[in-house]
Parts: sequence; C-alpha cells; structure tokens
Amino acid sequence: KKAEAWSARFSEPMSELVKRYTSSVFFDKRLALVDIEGSLAHAAMLAAQGIIAADDLAAIEQGMTQIRGEIERGEFEWQLDLEDVHLNIEARLTSLIGIAGKRLHTGRSRNDQVATDIRLWLRGEIDRIVGLLGELRTALLDLAEQHAATIMPGFTHLQVAQPVTFGHHLMAYVEMFGRDAERLADCRRRVNRLPLGAAALAGTTYPIDREAVAKRLGFDEVCRNSLDAVSDRDFAIEFTAAAALIMTHVSRFSEELVLWMSSRVGFIDIADRFCTGSSIMPQKKNPDVPELARGKAGRVNGHLVALLTLMKGQPLAYNKDNQEDKEPLFDTVDTVADTLRIFAEMVAGITVKADAMRDAALQGFSTATDLADYLVKRGLPFRDAHEAVAKAVRVCVERGCDLADLSVEEMRQALPEVVTYLGDDLRDSLTLDGSVQSRNHIGGTAPEQVRQAIARARG
Ligand code: ARG
Repeated sequence: KKAEAWSARFSEPMSELVKRYTSSVFFDKRLALVDIEGSLAHAAMLAAQGIIAADDLAAIEQGMTQIRGEIERGEFEWQLDLEDVHLNIEARLTSLIGIAGKRLHTGRSRNDQVATDIRLWLRGEIDRIVGLLGELRTALLDLAEQHAATIMPGFTHLQVAQPVTFGHHLMAYVEMFGRDAERLADCRRRVNRLPLGAAALAGTTYPIDREAVAKRLGFDEVCRNSLDAVSDRDFAIEFTAAAALIMTHVSRFSEELVLWMSSRVGFIDIADRFCTGSSIMPQKKNPDVPELARGKAGRVNGHLVALLTLMKGQPLAYNKDNQEDKEPLFDTVDTVADTLRIFAEMVAGITVKADAMRDAALQGFSTATDLADYLVKRGLPFRDAHEAVAKAVRVCVERGCDLADLSVEEMRQALPEVVTYLGDDLRDSLTLDGSVQSRNHIGGTAPEQVRQAIARARG
C-alpha cells in the first residue's frame, strides 16, 4: 500500500478513521477536469520560464491527456488513500510518466491549486446558470406576450387590490430573474481571478509568470495578495448568496403557482407531466414541482449560512476548514441549475384560465381606486374621494353586490354629498379594461406597456 505524500515526516501511518474523515476525493473529483487544465497551464509556464525542461512539459501534457481520457471514460481509479482529487491525479501522472510527474508541483501548493480549481469550475457553472436564467425568462416572456391583456386581480395582503394584466404579473418575475443574472455577471468578475502563484501562502521563490497563467486560463486578473488568494472563499459565498436570491424568486413564484392551481382559485393548470398524483386519493393532481422548489430554496439558504459560518472564524491563511466549501457549493449549483431548467419547461406548459381570472377581478371591489381617481379628476380632493368610495363599498357589501353593479342613479343616491361629481360617464372608470388601460406609463399594467416591456426585455 502506498504511503501518504508526506509520510517521510511521520513516524506512524495515518489512522484509517482519520483518512476517511479528511479525504475529499469522493466529492472533489468533480473538479478533475479543471484541475488538469490548471496543471497544464502551470506546467507550460514552468517550462516557458526555464523552471522545468521542455521534455518534462511534453511528458506532463501527454500524461494528462491520457488521464483526462481515463476520467472521461470512467476508468480512472480514485483512491481514498490519496485524499483528494489533486493528489490522485498527480500520483497517476507520476505512475504514467515517472520523474517529470514529480516536477509538476514545483512552485505550487494544493492551497493555490484548489482555489484555482474552484474558481475555474464555478466560472463555467455561472455561465451555465446565466444561460438557464435566460431560458426561463424567455418562457415567461412568451407567456406574458399571450396574456398582455388578460385581466386578473392584483393582490396586496392576499386581498384583491386592483386589476392587473397577467402579462404584467409575469413580467415582474422577468425583472427579478433579470437582476439575478446581473448579480451573477457581477459576481463572476470577482470569481475570475487567478490564485496560482500564491503557493502555500507566501508566494514562491521561482521566477514564475502569473500573468501568463492567468491569460492561458482565461482569468481577467491575478489575485493581488498571496495570503488572501489561498484563504478567502468570499467569491463562493457571494455566488451562493446570488443563488439564494434566485431560489427566493423561484420560491415566491412557486407559491403563486400552487395557489393559482388550487381549485379554490383555479387561475391556471400545469401540464400533467409536471404534476404527481396521490397514492390514496384518486382525484388528485398535485403541483409537486413548485412545492419542491419552494422547499429547495431553504436548502440553498442553508448552504449560504454554512459557507458564511465556515469562513468567519478562520485566521489567515489556508485552513483545512475550507475543504468544507465544496459540498455546499456543488449542491447549490446543482439545485439552482436543475430548478431553472425544469421551470423553463414548466412555464411553457401552463394553461391560463382567463375567465376565472376575470371573474375573480370582478369581485372584491378591485376598481374602487379607479372610482376615487374619477372623482379627483372632477375636482374632489383625494381624501374626500377616498371616504366617499369607502362608503359606496360599504353600501355594496350590505347589498351583496359589486361597485360596477350600481347604476349611476343608485350611486348618486348612495353618495349624496358628492353627487355633483358623479357624471354619466362614471361607470366607464369602473370596468376592468378601463382600469388597466388607464395605467399607461412605464412600469404600469396597461397592455400597451406590457408589450413594450416585453420588447425591451427581449432586447
Ligand atoms: N482538499 C483540500 C481542499 O479542498 C486541498 C488543499 C489542501 N491543502 C492542505 N494544505 N491540506 O481544500
């Protein structure tokens, strides 16, 4: 059996229990391909700087090509004894090419190596997630376009407030997911900096060329302080915070989908392929996907707190605590990416029940504000108008009808103190279509504005 990479320093082998406890290979092998990419860039720089020979570089490149093939074909034998992805690959390299393999780690530490790997990997995942956000936004835009003029009740406190268009409601989520993409793009700038060269913590005595490595790996800059480069994981925390916000938005949307699909509300239906049945109740069709997504938002919030807590007590520079950054980060990426993918497809499979939406908007006095605005436009101060309409609403509640059910004559009888403001055109302002159409400014719910917002979002 092979001894540990550092066994010369120790008088007894590592305990089996500790080996299992400290080993990370069964999760960090996910970094294998970026680890190879980073090693190749490092080796090329070492050769260009005359730190290793051109022959060594050629051997390393050939060995790494073989290893990459083994990993991609699932033939690579990961060994727990070799602790992590870095030592596994390096050991395999040396077994394949001999002495040149032992020269690869010159001027490098696993500390700057792993920090580089995570950044390379996360950069690719950020790009993938930004793409998925784009797909979800496109699905929402398509649905919003079909329903730019479909009227539903808008809510505050989950009580009917004012009529809005369903397209406008969906566009609120397009805004949220758009900001999420912006946040990721901003976070990416700080992810995309190169730690390699920091070595263990203090830098290295070799004449390295960090800029060349950064360029080859597509990093925008090099990390400017070696202690910071190997120890901070703020970039991963920042990403997870952005991911938690994505999931928060998904979760709010999920909550609405569940409500809308409930037979009590009945605003939408979700395609069968995204729903599940009950093992006991034959009639059931449950919105499991949004419910699960709502639950998974909690899981990502947990990862954010885990990473913040992991970091907060660490003195400079690297500490083994940081090995614990990977599972929360990996799971955050998986959870967000899977959720966004499913949601983009599910939104395309939503059936809208426009009649039910309209019926609901006709209840709950959703045009009361419009009536108040009507009175104000005819000269009544807003506070007086507010009071008059409140009185009209109370009359309707007593009669069990809606504002729009009152004739102009009945309205005049109900509100004698403002009768001079009640013209014959009164009822026009109480219609749902009139209500939404009149909110015709940037950010308003008018169908025309919704169409403009869609065009703008499509860019
Ligand atoms: N597996 C380690 C990690 O994930 C790699 C760095 C280990 N460095 C060390 N000095 N123990 O952080």
